[in-house]
Amino acid sequence: MFQPEMSQNIANMSGQVIRDILKLTQQPDVISFAGGMPPTDALPHEALREISGLAFEKYGREVLQYGTSEGFLPLREFIVKWMAKKGVKAELEEVIVTSGSQQGIDLMAKAFLNQDDRVIMEKPTYLTAIQIFQLYGASFLFGDSDENGIVPSSLQQISKHSTNKLLYLVPNFQNPTGVTLSQDRRKELPGMMAELKLVLVEDDPYGDLVYDDNHNGPIKAHDQDQRVVYLGSFSKIISPGLRVGFAVAPEAIIEKLVIGKQSSDVHTCNLAQAMIYEFCAGGLLEPHLESLKNQYRKKRDLMLEVMDRHFPRSVSWNKPGGGLFIWVQLPAGKTAQGLLKEAVKEKVAFITGECFYVGGGGSNTLRLNFSNASSAQIEEGISRLGKVMHTYLA
Ligand SMILES: Cc1ncc(COP(=O)(O)O)c(C=O)c1O
Repeated sequence: MFQPEMSQNIANMSGQVIRDILKLTQQPDVISFAGGMPPTDALPHEALREISGLAFEKYGREVLQYGTSEGFLPLREFIVKWMAKKGVKAELEEVIVTSGSQQGIDLMAKAFLNQDDRVIMEKPTYLTAIQIFQLYGASFLFGDSDENGIVPSSLQQISKHSTNKLLYLVPNFQNPTGVTLSQDRRKELPGMMAELKLVLVEDDPYGDLVYDDNHNGPIKAHDQDQRVVYLGSFSKIISPGLRVGFAVAPEAIIEKLVIGKQSSDVHTCNLAQAMIYEFCAGGLLEPHLESLKNQYRKKRDLMLEVMDRHFPRSVSWNKPGGGLFIWVQLPAGKTAQGLLKEAVKEKVAFITGECFYVGGGGSNTLRLNFSNASSAQIEEGISRLGKVMHTYLA
């Protein structure tokens, strides 16, 4: 068989985990808590169907023409105003529309990383961010984390080196742990970046999915030294399939992200950008978000309540104040991989926590998504998983 000579960075990667998750979630009789998606019936299909027609009428043939790499102007203007409400002052020149926030991570890696440069992260952290940074040849260093997110003083312990480039954080309802960075740490971190010679990548796809009181604003709101790049996404609050996200960054960084984007996809789909803009500017975002939050809050509460009823006492988990995930710990010595093998036989799936660890760890942890399954599936799937746990952990 043909064995192509691939780049070293891609040759060592298999992408197997993602493929396995997709395979599991696509089997119709499996109740899956593995993905991180909205339920398909919560996607605003009717509104966006009408809006796509409106966008064609309003913007005419221009919507089918090439656009600018910075993004659709009205959407960028909307983002400036929206970020101002979150406490982030940004000029238009500091905003680029990306094809999902995932492209924001990719463009940041492209702009900053040389082979063997180092990215500082939390452990565990978002799987695809790990993969993106690996593709650019990065190696990793880790700050300590607790129930309030990354511990700033632990960053001071990391040996200072000119190849330390980025600090990557998901400050709200982190994927996978559901943990949120505390307000005092949000204020402290930006001021540390200059001394550590780092740029902080604030990846925030879950910041609007808040179910309890007391929400903290972005880290970027405290960015006096212009060392924070904020990545936003419309995936979790409108539609992941439209692939629209954005970055807010100092102009000097935006200029480089634009160059990177030109060689990736030129620009994000004009029609998708126009649709997201019309949805937001037409006043549909707030009510849609309210409705999503109500649905997801109920599902989170239901899942927690059913877990309480069915999971063994030796298993522990957190109660996230927002986002899409509950993080579960099995007793030490028991693996989530072993549990998953048994769970799949009972047609229930989740994602094992170790996928989110670079270089091993977390073998007794797992991530449960509560947004995608219906309430009936949550009742049934969690009770099945509880039964499997009782046998597996006995
Ligand atoms: C932490 C984090 N960042 C980025 C993304 C990618 O989102 P998008 O669809 O905007 O590319 C996800 C999606 O699951 C995520 O969990």
